[in-house]
Amino acid sequence: MGAGTRVSPTLLSRGVSIREGRTYIHGIAVADLAEEFGTPVFIYDAAHIRAEVEAAKEAADWQVAYASKAFLCRELARIMDELGVHMDVASGGELYVALSAGFDPSRIVFHGNNKSVAEIEFGVAKGVGLFVLDSVAEISRLEKVAETAGRRQPVLVRVTPGVEAHTHEYVMTGQEDSKFGFSLASGAAEAALGMVKSSRWLDFVGIHAHIGSQIFLLDSYTKEVDALATLVEAHSPRLLNLGGGLGVAYVSGEETPGFDAWASQLYAALARNGIGRDIRVMVEPGRSFVAQAAMTVYRVGTVKRLEGLRTYVSVDGGMSDNPRPVLYGSGYEAFLPEAADAERDQVATIVGKHCESGDILIRDAILPASLEEGDLLATPVTGAYGYSMASNYNRVPRPPVIFVDESGARLAIRGENFEDMVRLEA
Ligand code: LLP
Repeated sequence: MGAGTRVSPTLLSRGVSIREGRTYIHGIAVADLAEEFGTPVFIYDAAHIRAEVEAAKEAADWQVAYASKAFLCRELARIMDELGVHMDVASGGELYVALSAGFDPSRIVFHGNNKSVAEIEFGVAKGVGLFVLDSVAEISRLEKVAETAGRRQPVLVRVTPGVEAHTHEYVMTGQEDSKFGFSLASGAAEAALGMVKSSRWLDFVGIHAHIGSQIFLLDSYTKEVDALATLVEAHSPRLLNLGGGLGVAYVSGEETPGFDAWASQLYAALARNGIGRDIRVMVEPGRSFVAQAAMTVYRVGTVKRLEGLRTYVSVDGGMSDNPRPVLYGSGYEAFLPEAADAERDQVATIVGKHCESGDILIRDAILPASLEEGDLLATPVTGAYGYSMASNYNRVPRPPVIFVDESGARLAIRGENFEDMVRLEA
């Protein structure tokens, strides 16, 4: 982040405005929301999510699924259901949340490299639209469950295309050496397709691949399509699910390629490989729908100035509500919602309240020198893989999640309290 006055508007959701230094979301002051709901708090711009999903739907004649691992709660599942998109779930828990919100099971795509028999039974019983088969063991498990249920289960077969997307090692998934799916190069994918197509209880719908997450170089998707082309030609799937992974800007200077460019890239690669429009394309982004929709608002507790060394700004959350900086070294920016126009002229390290030195949210944040204990501090772009990966480390209660749009602010997930910290205990 370069020194400058305001936080870059490209990192903020569509409903955010700044007037006389105060930050508003759909006309409500962020400070008022912090007052009403407490801090830390995840503030989601529901209208932003809707707009992003609509933009993705309009970008091409493809089917759009939301990868719910990025963030899921019932309120969000209801929004996705209203928007008519599919939903990718990767566990029985995600499936349960979606269904309990009334999400249409026929639009659910059930992922996972190690679905338990109980999860498979749950999915089949609820009428999940598509299972994504990930292993030989799963093929026979699903076959048995489908046979018992007397229902032919529509499936996709997950293929690892051997494409290394340029992203963090932990979120790379398309390469040969992966726990996910059937490898193309070894012939495992071919063999799995043979098994599935000859099965009485599995209805072969198509092929799935996902090459990774936070991808900025669209060329990686061309490589994915190129890698899959021979298999597609040989097996005539009805559906080709090319995964998610579109990159999102977290700090100024980064720019998402956007849904239109992603669609153009994919369809050009499909056309070049002679893959016709009779094969439906599905994509399943998570991050790009929700990341920029939310900011986390904290309160500054202590400021420790070590002359000539560093200034530590401690906030009332940390690695328990945002583990991404610790896990992946991910960068974020910060700003003061009540002094959004103040010159940002000091470098400080924003840390959480957890009992370890690694609990860093932003190593070199640029903040106004006027920052004081008691100020509100916001980190934008925390809507994806923030709350969904939050923990109770140090028995710190998880923050509330609120949704804001033109109709006002509402609580989507209440904040945990100390009683919740012993709720599961005998
Ligand atoms: N489809 C599959 C099969 C996936 O595994 C994923 C993400 C997605 C779709 C959605 O990818 P997205 O569009 O959100 O990039 N916790 C990490 C990200 C892990 C992604 C796992 N799979 C992070 O915070 O960066």
